[in-house]
Amino acid sequence: MSIGSFFGRGLGLLPQDFAARACKQSATCTMACSLTLRREQEISCESLSVSHECDARVNANSRLLAKCREHCCPPDTSSPPSRFWGGYVTIRNWRNSGGMQVFRTYRGLTKPTKDYPRQMGNIETAQRPRILSGMRPSGKLHLGNLVGALQNWVKLQDEYDSFHFVADWHMLTTGYENTVDLRQDTWEMVTDWLACGLDPAKATFFVQSRLPEHAELHLLFSMVTPLSWLERVPTYKEQLENIRDHDINTYGFLGYPLLQAADILMYKPRYVPVGEDQIPHVELTREVARRFNQAFGKLHLKKRSEQEWIAWGTAIRNFARPPAGKAEQFILENYHRASLDVRADYLNRDVGTLDPLFPEPDVLLTSSPRLPGSDGRKMSKSYNNAIFLTDGPEVISKKLAVYMTDPARKRRTDPGDPDVCPVFDLHKIFSGGDLISRINSECRTAAIGCVECKRLAAQNVNAFLAPIQERRKPYEQKPELVWEILEDGTKKAREVAQKTMAEVRRAVNLAP
Ligand code: TRP
Ligand code: SF4
Repeated sequence: MSIGSFFGRGLGLLPQDFAARACKQSATCTMACSLTLRREQEISCESLSVSHECDARVNANSRLLAKCREHCCPPDTSSPPSRFWGGYVTIRNWRNSGGMQVFRTYRGLTKPTKDYPRQMGNIETAQRPRILSGMRPSGKLHLGNLVGALQNWVKLQDEYDSFHFVADWHMLTTGYENTVDLRQDTWEMVTDWLACGLDPAKATFFVQSRLPEHAELHLLFSMVTPLSWLERVPTYKEQLENIRDHDINTYGFLGYPLLQAADILMYKPRYVPVGEDQIPHVELTREVARRFNQAFGKLHLKKRSEQEWIAWGTAIRNFARPPAGKAEQFILENYHRASLDVRADYLNRDVGTLDPLFPEPDVLLTSSPRLPGSDGRKMSKSYNNAIFLTDGPEVISKKLAVYMTDPARKRRTDPGDPDVCPVFDLHKIFSGGDLISRINSECRTAAIGCVECKRLAAQNVNAFLAPIQERRKPYEQKPELVWEILEDGTKKAREVAQKTMAEVRRAVNLAP
């Protein structure tokens, strides 16, 4: 949403020139109003989370700031520990982990302090660190999916205890009106996973809807999650506005990121390998984990003598004197029956430590090269500009024949600029170094023509896809193989999910 439209409908405060300035970097208000600010505007608000490494901040327009605060930063006393809330901007902390960027934000802290309650206690570290990621069942995959996510999963399966699943319920949150192809799309996608080398002996893959535990955890999360947390997810309002061709005005769509939080936390992974667009969802996941831990995590009291506990309590308003000899039991009970903000107060006063149910996983960001489709836009099934992994040589040649090239290169004799040419992007990924540098120079001098250049691109894309298509064949001949592999994976995933849910039901004190 543009600033103009936000202010037009929302607060009606915006000076016109705000909307006019363009900057790729932006800050997004993470609370209910979805305010998007441009970098140059330098506006700060307690709820602003800064996108990219943009350092937008500080009070350019105090009227706006005050309004935004009023609108979307009511004092949130319910999210303990309170001292960790209500700081200024979110800090992005990039560090390197084996060529991949690990991403973490510290909400509300300008400096992460060493006592930041990073709840990693219950993380799954049994063997290799665990990762988990899901993909919506979009049917046959294209080259963009391959270089964007799948290749990365294949690489990671040797190093990590990998869980990957088909997010078919997520598909329903935006597409319940048309499920005609859902089952087939699931099959096609998983078959492409297998064809690309995702190995059921190394990674566990499964289908979300075959594990009702995900729905149960989603439901329990929904009990503790403030509505505003979901309404402020950047994609939510944006999509409500932009998606016009089908209905997404549903409870399920609002809950989309919470379902994702359940998918993730169920397996207590260390990392979630996803693209940049999913960062806000993983961020929400961490907040939900923290909130759920605060609500249901068991408290271990600090060791203090009875006299010390009595002295400790005098600092707390309305704190009744514990009965003689029962101080510990009394404080524990008080704690577990208190509202979350009172518990936050206790924790801030060092009452003890929480036994967290869930860890707070990080995003594992992979730098995926931009892969344009035949019209120069991002490759996407819905743009009809994609090369599918199943496309044979003739189809690929035909698709390349109409692929966009440098638009300034009109005649064979005009020199071209490979840097703005989508065909060159294909070369950069699928051709060898020698050919890439040859085209890079010969295009600029018109020594090579686009027809020849495209022929070479098609050849290399074909060579790349041939073994993938070969590996697909046995599954095409015996489609039930894929369902069997998924069933095995589902069994493995179910073991983990059932264990987590038993812990969760116990912690919430549901019936045994
Ligand atoms: N929302 C993700 C997407 O659209 C899919 C997804 C669902 C997911 N649950 C997940 C990704 C859990 C990672 C982890 O791509
Ligand atoms: Fe693009 Fe190749 Fe033509 Fe250059 S020669 S404009 S890189 S298709």
